[in-house]
Amino acid sequence: MNQYFYPRSELRATIANLPIHAERNSGLSSVREHEKGNSRQSGALALSGISLSFGGVTALSEIDLNIVSGEIRSIIGPNGAGKSSLINIISGVYRPDSGHIRINGHTYQKVPTHQLARLGIARTFQNLALFKGLSVLDNVKISRVHHSRATFLEQITGLGRARREETDSLNRSNAIIDFLDLGDVRHSLAGTLSYGLQKRVELARALVAEPKILLLDEPMAGMTPADKQDLTGFIRAARDQFGTTVVLIEHDIGVVMGLSDRIAVLDYGRKIADGTPAEVRSNQAVIDAYMGIDHEENPTGGSN
Ligand SMILES: Nc1ncnc2c1ncn2[C@@H]1O[C@H](COP(=O)(O)OP(=O)(O)OP(=O)(O)O)[C@@H](O)[C@H]1O
Ligand SMILES: [Mg+2]
Repeated sequence: MNQYFYPRSELRATIANLPIHAERNSGLSSVREHEKGNSRQSGALALSGISLSFGGVTALSEIDLNIVSGEIRSIIGPNGAGKSSLINIISGVYRPDSGHIRINGHTYQKVPTHQLARLGIARTFQNLALFKGLSVLDNVKISRVHHSRATFLEQITGLGRARREETDSLNRSNAIIDFLDLGDVRHSLAGTLSYGLQKRVELARALVAEPKILLLDEPMAGMTPADKQDLTGFIRAARDQFGTTVVLIEHDIGVVMGLSDRIAVLDYGRKIADGTPAEVRSNQAVIDAYMGIDHEENPTGGSN
């Protein structure tokens, strides 16, 4: 059950007046040039013909989505549009009924969840998923576990590779904690932090795994405007400094318009638009979807 509900009527129509992300600063232009030259190399992640239903409910219908390396790509749409389902397919939680997923040149019908970290994918969840009784540092360090190559013997004796890995894990965790300006709460129990800081710790946990692709499912839900502004800055900095490809689900249209290179819009499980913030905000199908106008009257208007 969702903590925050966004009825269509409350989402309507402010889109046209919002400031949009300055494309020239995004690096997207060069990414696009590269994409024209060789779409395979530049495509970090591609979904083709993805459909998914739960019983009689169609969550996703024939979704095509091509995400290029280093872009911040938002996925928006009203409640129940299929956004989380899409993230769950990319992260291997669900197997689509049809279609496939291409990650770094490999094609999957179902993404192998247990290899997610090795594939360079990290995610945060729509609802908080921290170990509240552990410190911030321990919460972050846990995500380095998949980097371990030490043998069982090395791990129980704490010698050899195990010791080097422990030091490496500690250093990287501390570096990410500093990067996200969480140094003051490094040793605090996660459960004692404000909601905004806990969401930031979740981001730290995802980033410490050094993902190529970061999936964020409503990272700002329930945050204060100040916390949102901070997190927006950190997400942008992660992309700029680490080259991380970001797939962002977010209901705050202001945040989305300001942060995204491109935006895909879902409605009733279908992709109804896909383009730059400027393109999406002037797309009639998107405006109709947010106005709650019946989707049957509005055939697909997007392109990939
Ligand atoms: N595990 C599930 N079992 C049954 N139906 C599901 C399940 N997960 C999603 N659905 C249904 O699939 C549709 C898409 O849901 P999804 O959670 O992907 O939407 P969403 O866009 O993330 O919505 P929200 O903005 O509320 O988070 C909805 O009709 C939802 O009720
Ligand atoms: Mg959702």
